Amino acid sequence: MDIFLKDAKQHIGNTVTINGWINNTRSSGKINFLEIRDGTDYIQGVVVKGEASDTAFEHSTQVTQESSVRVTGIVREEARSTSGVELTVLEVEIIHLCAEEYPITKKDHGPDFLLNHRHLWLRSKRQRSIQRIRDTIIRATYDHLGANNYIKIDAPILTPVSCEDTTELFELDYFGEPAYLTQSGQLYIESAIFAHGRVFDFGPVFRAEKSKTRRHLTEFWMMDAEAAFVKHEQNMDIQEALVRAIITAVLEKNMDDLIILERDIEKLKKANQPFARITHAEAVKKLQELGSEVGVEDDLGAPDETMLMEHYDTPLFVEKYPFKVKAFYMKKDPEDPTRALCADLLAPEGYGEIIGGSEREENYDELLKEIRAHNLNEKDFDWYLDLRKYGSVPHSGFGYGLERIVMWMCGTKHIRESIPFPRMISRKYP
Ligand code: 4AD
Repeated sequence: MDIFLKDAKQHIGNTVTINGWINNTRSSGKINFLEIRDGTDYIQGVVVKGEASDTAFEHSTQVTQESSVRVTGIVREEARSTSGVELTVLEVEIIHLCAEEYPITKKDHGPDFLLNHRHLWLRSKRQRSIQRIRDTIIRATYDHLGANNYIKIDAPILTPVSCEDTTELFELDYFGEPAYLTQSGQLYIESAIFAHGRVFDFGPVFRAEKSKTRRHLTEFWMMDAEAAFVKHEQNMDIQEALVRAIITAVLEKNMDDLIILERDIEKLKKANQPFARITHAEAVKKLQELGSEVGVEDDLGAPDETMLMEHYDTPLFVEKYPFKVKAFYMKKDPEDPTRALCADLLAPEGYGEIIGGSEREENYDELLKEIRAHNLNEKDFDWYLDLRKYGSVPHSGFGYGLERIVMWMCGTKHIRESIPFPRMISRKYP
């Protein structure tokens, strides 16, 4: 019977067949050990001369790292192995024998070499764990938002306007007219709250950012969520519940992966407590005390976020940034109109911003004034202004950068490992 390795424990004593790849081999003459990977897990196959068929023993001697195989054997309990089981091999069928030496070996390779071989690097243990955690984060997001009355709405990727900073747009020729790759689906999903109340999108976004940091990609995946009748404070509550649902899911489903990644699990558990909240003004004061040169009117740079987040165990909302450093669509704080009713959510252990969000300006005249003040083309935003003409309501939303969350959950130093094929200023291969 063909089985998946994740179910191997349910088959102790049975003869089963596994379809997979050779992760590693070792031999002590009469016994060949095959570490087999089938996508769902790993198992050690023990091939004993005389016990396995002669062909099986011969094949197990021939196979090389990454050869693909069909292996039949008996599942045995084995307390010493991490999976708790082992396979006494009876038959080995070689599907494809790797004749060339596999480029990624146990020795240390530099990041450039690994990134050039990303199509192969994805098979490595650490990389598998990172992608599995990414999958959990995506699923937890859909599940949590679905359970909280959000429906998934898709935003376009080709757009006539910018959503965030106009200097960070990838422009393309759309039948003789300029079009841009989306920076965020936010403006579009705002239209959908009038039909559905609460909505979210999830898709690739593009930023022609010149930032060459360990947390910037030019193509990344964003989840934007938007909700009618939700104000600034409640917007933060919604984000906190979502991020805590994500941490909970990763701790529940990916313990093996976190161990492979040598993640400090206690730190993730500590992060799953009520989040701290401070204003931008308070953050600046604290940063200045820590030695930063950031000013009261400034946005926080990546180094500021890192510095601040060395001092928190939980994520931190920094709210009410100066309006002038934020996007045109944000609502101003009625108590201090120089501030926006916004918050960035920063992750602990120096990880920095994972979410940007705000209450949106729902007044037609105010929004038009800001579109003009930001030198945006009024005509392009006619449709967006319409939303303030027909049943306008207070509403808020936020967007998370998937790779930033993956990076934090996995404890990786650089964002490039958190997406299957990273796109950065200096890389679009493979
Ligand atoms: O803060 P940002 O720019 O917010 C927006 O785009 C809003 N329209 C979202 C909304 O309110 N619906 O980006 C949101 C998140 C950031 O917090 C960060 O996690 C991530 O996107 N992000 C990046 N991730 C990787 N590489 C980059 N270059 C990123 N720029 C932003």
